[in-house]
Amino acid sequence: MNDTVLVVDFGAQYAQLIARRVREAHVFSEIVPSTISAAQVRVKAPGAIILSGGPKSVYAVPAPTLDPAIYELGIPILGICYGAQLMAQQLGGKVANTGAGEYGRTALTRQGPTVLMTNWPATTTVWMSHGDAIAVAPEGFVVTGSTPEAPVAVMEDVVRRLHAVQFHPEVAHTEHGQDLLVNFLHHVAVIPPTWTNSSIIEEQVAAIRRQVGSEKVLCALSGGVDSAVAAALVTKAVGAQLTCVFVDTGLMRKNEGDQIEETFTRQFGVDLVHVKAQDRFFSALAGVTDPEAKRKIIGELFIREFEEVAHDLAKDGDGPRFLVQGTLYPDVIESGSGHAANIKSHHNVGGLPEDLSFELVEPLRTLFKDEVRRVGEELGLPSEIVWRQPFPGPGLGVRIIGEVTRERAEILRNADHVVVDEIKKAGLYRELWQSFAVLPAVRTVGVMGDGRTYAYPIIIRAVTSDDAMTADWARLPYEVIESIANRLIREVEGVNRVALDVTSKPPGTIEWE
Ligand code: XMP
Repeated sequence: MNDTVLVVDFGAQYAQLIARRVREAHVFSEIVPSTISAAQVRVKAPGAIILSGGPKSVYAVPAPTLDPAIYELGIPILGICYGAQLMAQQLGGKVANTGAGEYGRTALTRQGPTVLMTNWPATTTVWMSHGDAIAVAPEGFVVTGSTPEAPVAVMEDVVRRLHAVQFHPEVAHTEHGQDLLVNFLHHVAVIPPTWTNSSIIEEQVAAIRRQVGSEKVLCALSGGVDSAVAAALVTKAVGAQLTCVFVDTGLMRKNEGDQIEETFTRQFGVDLVHVKAQDRFFSALAGVTDPEAKRKIIGELFIREFEEVAHDLAKDGDGPRFLVQGTLYPDVIESGSGHAANIKSHHNVGGLPEDLSFELVEPLRTLFKDEVRRVGEELGLPSEIVWRQPFPGPGLGVRIIGEVTRERAEILRNADHVVVDEIKKAGLYRELWQSFAVLPAVRTVGVMGDGRTYAYPIIIRAVTSDDAMTADWARLPYEVIESIANRLIREVEGVNRVALDVTSKPPGTIEWE
């Protein structure tokens, strides 16, 4: 048995959140599909299993189910929501469709001694989202909690170490949710809390050294968090064998290139090739207005620039064999599940040129974004890099609506800097998923002093989101909007009007293209 927790995914977004919460309790978690067999589980030998919630009813046809032999393996299991109902049904209890579901906050009443809710008050607030409910617990289980519409909201079989909760302990609205997970992990399953930033770093550094030996390694830095943290880990492991490449497309955020150069060259002492390719990008983009065409041109040119560096390095026959990629765990899960809808051609600058024959080094493959950020901080990356909001691979290119020119890129870069600066000053930067400026290539009339102006508008786009799949427009305080607008007009030449985007996703997207 090892210290990993398997989170069985029953098809909703909850599995990722559960997996993150488990890691917050310093235990490593891995998401597995619900089709996993008992034999496969035995091979993985996890310290515990958590069955996630899901959108289906256990009576739906077909409803995802679990190999019943998994309950016989002697591994502690916690069922959550759908997982709880499935456990009840598969072990001989009853699940009823009462027609009276519960959605949102509900009062949970605790009864009798319970391992999961030790020291909880008699009633607490929990977050519910269910239509069906467990009506009768299976034999061997004791009911330890109920809500108005869920008579069996918590059931526990301490002998077999099988536990189930109808509510969602993983969501923030459940008062003692994390405490419940911690009790299950540390007291029921007795898994030690050893998954920490320093253990992640140690493990990854050792894995990188094992994988690359004394070979050379190449890494494309994009300016973003993931490639920077991946590069920092590789630096710590085999810094002398690493060459980083930063291609300045002319479409980066203000000071992005300098910051990267400062950090990796001066602070980490890494070999950095800083390709200043702005001219080539602007010429390739001249006259192009179609968003997909722009993305394609930027992506392909980026790869060409990158290849050139790789070929140069390989000239004397001793080039890098490995390429660092900042792939994160959610990318791994999503590409594995096959149902991640791809609305745009999300090429990632820093992504793998397909015809280059590198072996991949992916030190962040098991990590969530918040873990990546903490690891980055621990490795000494500046907080400007570690806490940077997501930025699309094609950069400012998809935020200039219409033809991308050097002049527009410069205006937008300055405008974006103002937006971000004011958002930071207001203490909102980390709270927001993204906050940036958009420049539509139209000009409107204004007056300034005695004169008429004819210049670009800037649109302020700020959203909150958990995963970019959906997003809400951010209710920025009026004073913040006002100071952004004032500064944009005053400081950014070429701008005479400011608008605010109040569209959520859906129906809008976060970016404008
Ligand atoms: P949308 O605009 O589709 O964006 O709501 C969702 C998230 O993806 C980012 N994004 C991109 N990232 N290449 C990228 O690497 C792209 O072409 C691209 N387009 C959008 C966007 O910033 C948001 O976080």
